[in-house]
Amino acid sequence: MKRKLFIARKLPEEVVAPLREKFEVRMWDEAEKQIPEKVLLEEARQVDALWTTITENVTRQLIEASPNLKVVSNLAVGFNNIDLEAAKEHGVIVTNTPDVLTETTADLAFALLLASARRITEAEQTVRNGEWTSWSATQLTGMDVFGATLGVIGMGRIGEAAARRAAGFNMRVLYHNRTRKLESEKRYGFEYASKDILLKEADFVLIFAPLTPETKNMIGEQELAKMKETAVLINVARGGIVDEEALYNALKDGTIWGAGLDVFEVEPVPMDHPLLTLSNVTVLPHIGSASIRTRLAMMNMNVQAMTDVLEGREPKNRVV
Ligand code: NAP
Ligand code: GLV
Repeated sequence: MKRKLFIARKLPEEVVAPLREKFEVRMWDEAEKQIPEKVLLEEARQVDALWTTITENVTRQLIEASPNLKVVSNLAVGFNNIDLEAAKEHGVIVTNTPDVLTETTADLAFALLLASARRITEAEQTVRNGEWTSWSATQLTGMDVFGATLGVIGMGRIGEAAARRAAGFNMRVLYHNRTRKLESEKRYGFEYASKDILLKEADFVLIFAPLTPETKNMIGEQELAKMKETAVLINVARGGIVDEEALYNALKDGTIWGAGLDVFEVEPVPMDHPLLTLSNVTVLPHIGSASIRTRLAMMNMNVQAMTDVLEGREPKNRVV
């Protein structure tokens, strides 16, 4: 009897093929549509392995209703969509995709930082909308990145990779974590700072902490009020870490100058979201790790991890 595996998103057939040779594989096959929760529950109930992405919630209810489930492999480094406690209690292994996406996501964070600072999307729209009627000394002026201070909250793999890019822009780098990274301080000259000092001194605040109960709404009204009026907030980590209502107010009343967001509390972000009415926010549809090579590496990592578990080996990148 072949082991059963369910893939909760439509993924490329060439990546899935090796799994089909060994296991009985079913896949949600509506490319543009997320699997309804009820269908996910029903599919998970029958399988040994579940391949998820950031958009599927692996709840306690799902885990408890899936007696054969041995592994959940998440196509992401973040795993806030998975109830780890329930997985641990029920002996379900959870794996993720760290490292292979680090540099790609750091590239995107820096691209968003530059785009937000220099109003790139606004500028492009000006050209495309036929509003580039003449040159002006004050049109679309933004903030300098070169020589500015970058503050990274969540100086892990990706935070540090983004901070390394700042060296090329002659930036001072402050960071805040729960633990200091003395080796990186020595090697790259990064400076550890309390969250308050970082918020006060940074020209660009970049969030790269995971979404946890502790980081939920970590950047709210009080934190935004501590930032410079000229500062830009960049969030490529998770919606939910930044209080979106407080951010909207801060951007609208000039408490901070701008923001760049790749992630939102609810994704896809609803079209009537107040943040979308503001021109000083640059928005992206959660594309941090979206390069062709990196997405392939992430998917292959999931394939290997599920195969390892189903064939009785310890997988790499085990979260629990
Ligand atoms: P990581 O290496 O685990 O780094 C996370 C860092 O956050 C750690 O250094 C950790 O340090 C710090 N941290 C945790 N809790 C904190 C807190 N309460 N206050 C301050 N710092 C805290 O993870 P990573 O690989 O860099 O990924 C980071 C996150 O990026 C992921 O969890 C994911 O949500 C997000 N991400 C988004 C995209 C995208 O497409 N937009 C792509 C990849 C990743 P301490 O434990 O010392 O505090
Ligand atoms: C993407 O958001 C990830 O966590 O990898």
